[in-house]
Amino acid sequence: MDSAFMGWDVGTQALKAVVLNEAGEVLWEKSHPYPIGSPAETWFEQEPSTWLAAYDAIAEQFVAASLPVHLRGVGFTGQMHTTVVTDANGCPLRPAILWSDQRASHYGPILIDRWGTAGTAAVGGNYPLANFSALRLLWIRDHEPRIFDNLRRVALAKDWLRNQVSGSWATDVTDASGTYLFDVARRQWASEWAQHLGLETSSWFGPAVESATIVGSVMRGPECLCGLPVVAGAGDQEASAVGTGVVSPGTLGISLGTSGVVFMPTGEFQPPRHPAVHAFCHAVPGGWHWMAVTQAAALCWRWYRDAFFPGLTYSELDQRVAQVSSDGIFFFPYLQGERAPLMNAQIPGILMGIRPHHTAVEIGKAVLEGVAFSLYHAWVAMQEDAWPGLAPRVVMTGGGSASPVWAQIIADVFGQPVSVVGDAGAAAGAAWLAFQGVDKHDNPLPVKPLTSYEPGPASPRYREDADTFIRWAERLNQAWQDEEHRAIRSR
Ligand code: XUL
Repeated sequence: MDSAFMGWDVGTQALKAVVLNEAGEVLWEKSHPYPIGSPAETWFEQEPSTWLAAYDAIAEQFVAASLPVHLRGVGFTGQMHTTVVTDANGCPLRPAILWSDQRASHYGPILIDRWGTAGTAAVGGNYPLANFSALRLLWIRDHEPRIFDNLRRVALAKDWLRNQVSGSWATDVTDASGTYLFDVARRQWASEWAQHLGLETSSWFGPAVESATIVGSVMRGPECLCGLPVVAGAGDQEASAVGTGVVSPGTLGISLGTSGVVFMPTGEFQPPRHPAVHAFCHAVPGGWHWMAVTQAAALCWRWYRDAFFPGLTYSELDQRVAQVSSDGIFFFPYLQGERAPLMNAQIPGILMGIRPHHTAVEIGKAVLEGVAFSLYHAWVAMQEDAWPGLAPRVVMTGGGSASPVWAQIIADVFGQPVSVVGDAGAAAGAAWLAFQGVDKHDNPLPVKPLTSYEPGPASPRYREDADTFIRWAERLNQAWQDEEHRAIRSR
């Protein structure tokens, strides 16, 4: 019987579980969807109880599958920054505020005005963005004081689910990095900094340990899972990097999930050069990485499908858009505001360049291209100057990477060969962390690319279009900010 490990990923759209053997092969996978609430524009919430119900449903399906494996450990991963505030028993006091939620965006400038860049150096030089837990906690303090008074614990998404399943209250260094309360360079809570903000660290979040640390054992669900050791796990971006082999400098990871991510291991800690780029701990002990996030990637493709061709599958859509060019249309994918590099929580998605002869299909091509340009824009911010230091190997994952048309566009825009490694990334990474924790090793997961894409004849044109996109994105961002300031002044 294969010895195997189970990984759970609290995704934005669904909970996903995979079972992985020691060769890194996915033996079984399942997912279970749950809804997202949006009580106001740019606000996004989810009920943690729906994650637990999804866990129970998948656990039952796992039993029914009677997989001939000997399970030896479990790991958790999930949406980073997503913040659950609870009472002393871990019961949520309100819905979780999701990673994409922008309600706390005005706290960033307030913190920078008050503490300056030097003051915020305690958190590894990261800029205080609306996505980070600390800013949400300040928002709850100011807008929901009763909830704040009753708050005794705080958890990131995967930590809350792991607590319900194993009783362990802890987080890991990767997810702690996204709270804005963590000394990323020293891999420990920035407790003094938190005190300045009137917030707490370990007494709320629990200890922040390395990702492969065993923190408890399964206590919920079927007998075949109960008693298995559970590791702390990692944020979905770092777990995905473990699951796709993006663990050391020299490899660049691109993820086309709900959000789009450019992920670069840096080896040692280096503060980010651009405020929209994060420097976080990696799930590899003693490893760090840079990361730039475009808030909506596969989300844009889903929006496009639902708005224009609700009956079609993604592969049917792919075939249609493969036949056409975007013919001068540019799509700016800011459906959830933008993080890297624009740092504008309010900017919306924009379609530009429509002429009378255009149809929905050309718009579709522009949507795929716009996300690719936006990822490239984020990469430019990470690099400061575009090309000289480009990592030699680009690995792509996430639901969107299943589209050959999209993968080819990414290879063309980046001007680099791209290896697609499938989409079990984060959950597989969590399972691999369990293997590392249980057997006390740090071997990387052997990753087999599914397909590779070379830059094709369209690459030179795409590289020019990417530059045009960047110029327009920066102008549109400026215009949008000027309008917002004018509106604020006239209120
Ligand atoms: C990373 C981020 C998103 C979520 C999506 O900083 O905010 O990619 O992790 O799950």
